[in-house]
Amino acid sequence: MGRALYNRPASEGVPPLGESVEGELVYKKIVVGTDGSPTAGVALDHAIGLAKVTGATVHIVNAYKAMTTMAAIGPDFSAPDRGVLEDDARRVCDEAAEAARAAGLDAVTHIAEGDPADALVKIAEHENADLIVVGNRGMMGARRFITGSVPNRVAHHCPCHLLVVHTT
Ligand SMILES: Nc1ncnc2c1ncn2[C@@H]1O[C@H](COP(=O)(O)OP(=O)(O)OP(=O)(O)O)[C@@H](O)[C@H]1O
Ligand SMILES: [Mg+2]
Repeated sequence: MGRALYNRPASEGVPPLGESVEGELVYKKIVVGTDGSPTAGVALDHAIGLAKVTGATVHIVNAYKAMTTMAAIGPDFSAPDRGVLEDDARRVCDEAAEAARAAGLDAVTHIAEGDPADALVKIAEHENADLIVVGNRGMMGARRFITGSVPNRVAHHCPCHLLVVHTT
C-alpha cells in the first residue's frame, strides 16, 4: 500500500505509513510546471509519484514568452512566430500529460503566455490547487549554481504548498 500524506498538524504526530484516514488525504490537485527540460522532467516524475499516492489530478503548465520586446530591438531580429511557440508549448504539455496518464492519472494541460511563475500562481489560484511542484533548475540549469528564477518567484506568491524538487 502506498504512503499516505495527511493534512494534520505535526504536533499530532505522523500516522503509520499506509494507514488511510478518510477525508484527510491532501494533494487532490497538483500543479506542475515544465519547460520541457530533463530537469523539469524530474520534477514532473516527482509530481506524478505524489499524485499516485494521493489520488490527485495533475495540472501541467508550460508558459511561453512571445518576446515582443526583443522583436522591438531592431529589424534584423526575427522573433519566433507566436503559433510556433504555442505549438512547442502544447507539445511539451502533451508529452508530460502522456507520462501522467501512462501512470494512471487524470491530467489537464495549461499553456500560458507570459511569465512562468505568474502563470503557475494564477493557475493554482484559479484551480484551487493544493500543491505546486517545480524543479530547482530548468533549461538554463547547467549554467547556473543558484536556484532558478521560477521557484524563487513562485515561493513569494504561492497560494498553496510549494515543492521545489532538487533535480540537479
Ligand atoms: N516556461 C515554463 N513553464 C512552466 N514551468 C517552468 C517554465 N520554466 C521553468 N519552469 C519550472 O521551473 C523550474 C526551474 O526552472 P527555472 O526556469 O527557474 O530555472 P533555469 O532555467 O535554470 O533558470 P532561469 O530561467 O531563471 O534563468 C523548472 O524545473 C520547471 O519546473
Ligand atoms: Mg528557465
